[in-house]
Amino acid sequence: MLNVDLSYAFKTRDEKKEQALFDAIKKAHHTIERGDGAGSDFLGWLDLPNQMLSDVNRINDVAKRLSEKHDVLLVIGIGGSYLGSKAVIESLKPYFSTDQDIEIIFVGHHISSDYMSDLKAYLKEKSFAINVISKSGTTTEPAIAFRTFKALLEEKVGPQEAKNRIVATTDQSKGALKTLADEKGYETFVIPDDVGGRYSVLTAVGLLPVAAAGIDIEALLTGAQKAKEALNEKSPKNQAYQYVMARHYLYQHEKMIEMLIYYEPKLKFVAEWWKQLFGESEGKENKGLFNASAGFTTDLHSLGQYIQEGHRHLFETIINIKQPNQDFNIEPTKEDLDGLNYLSDMTVDTINKKAMQGTLLAHMDGDAPSIVIDVERLDAEHIGYLLYFFEFSCALSGYVLGINPFDQPGVEAYKKNMFALLKKPGFENETKAILNRIKKTRE
Ligand code: PA5
Repeated sequence: MLNVDLSYAFKTRDEKKEQALFDAIKKAHHTIERGDGAGSDFLGWLDLPNQMLSDVNRINDVAKRLSEKHDVLLVIGIGGSYLGSKAVIESLKPYFSTDQDIEIIFVGHHISSDYMSDLKAYLKEKSFAINVISKSGTTTEPAIAFRTFKALLEEKVGPQEAKNRIVATTDQSKGALKTLADEKGYETFVIPDDVGGRYSVLTAVGLLPVAAAGIDIEALLTGAQKAKEALNEKSPKNQAYQYVMARHYLYQHEKMIEMLIYYEPKLKFVAEWWKQLFGESEGKENKGLFNASAGFTTDLHSLGQYIQEGHRHLFETIINIKQPNQDFNIEPTKEDLDGLNYLSDMTVDTINKKAMQGTLLAHMDGDAPSIVIDVERLDAEHIGYLLYFFEFSCALSGYVLGINPFDQPGVEAYKKNMFALLKKPGFENETKAILNRIKKTRE
């Protein structure tokens, strides 16, 4: 279902270094299996593909109830509580939706006043429901959005009907959202304790919005289960070993930036999800690749210049979807005034693939190497496979790097300052300190 091609990754190969990395990866694999590495309380994602099968019916039932009755489903969440479902939905739904589809709108993933105002106005004439998602149940961005849109819903349809339209996905026992959900009697789904936010796409966090969008979640889980089985192999033939070896090899050779590249724009949010997965997992202790992304050929007309000739500190990981879901032909014209008749026996995808081949060679010549991940086609099973492949690779890679791939201590720093500046109760000392600091900086 997926193949890692390293033909464009190295100018010369160093078998000794590769073997040393494969040995480290195998060790990391054993650590994951034994469950005794750093952060091993958060290995619950490993078994989700199989475990979540028993929840499919309930998730589908709730999704159907919401999607059949309403125009819009508001999905409220941030980070791991929104990127996974957005990635799956965008990669599998048509670019332009039909009238029958429920519209999935994400909110609570930033603090934009204009976005909230526009959304409030947009919802005026719409029938809508809410899936609020927060593992901690205390994250500020989604909490603000939920307070706002819950109030709007209650005002529109009354508290009793609002209750029927709100589903909370959160911790099984703690957090403000859990308390609120219990008090109000909302339908709830549990985020398991041993699954961190960025590894939660295959829990109800990802599956409920994805099911509401009309996507086959059983196929998504089947794909992930296939990946789990394939990636169990402890040898360099394992495709995750190949990917992890190549990115560490390049990291050891002064490549500090990994750009995830997609030639199918539907994968934009798979790249956003991937950036969070790897960035939050590996960027610690002054280590780790910086994760960026670009969509080609679009960004060949912007970042392409830098990738070809700028500072030589980056490599690319290309997701190549081998077969488009639909062929699109270039038609010949009699006059050929635009001179494009030479393309007229080709499909648009053939041209996209030639652009990719040409770019791979050009970037290799310019010392921007590429790891290519070939994926047969874009469907739920293949996306499930791809997501699990990245999760597993990320865990292996984090252990090879020598960090805990399952925590995110650095995320707290901005929150502490923000709460101090907002004068949140309980942050009185921090408020005093930060205001003094700002005063001194200005003096
Ligand atoms: O990966 C993570 O843990 C984070 O990105 C969280 O998902 C994000 O901060 C949202 O947290 P919560 O679901 O607790 O609101």
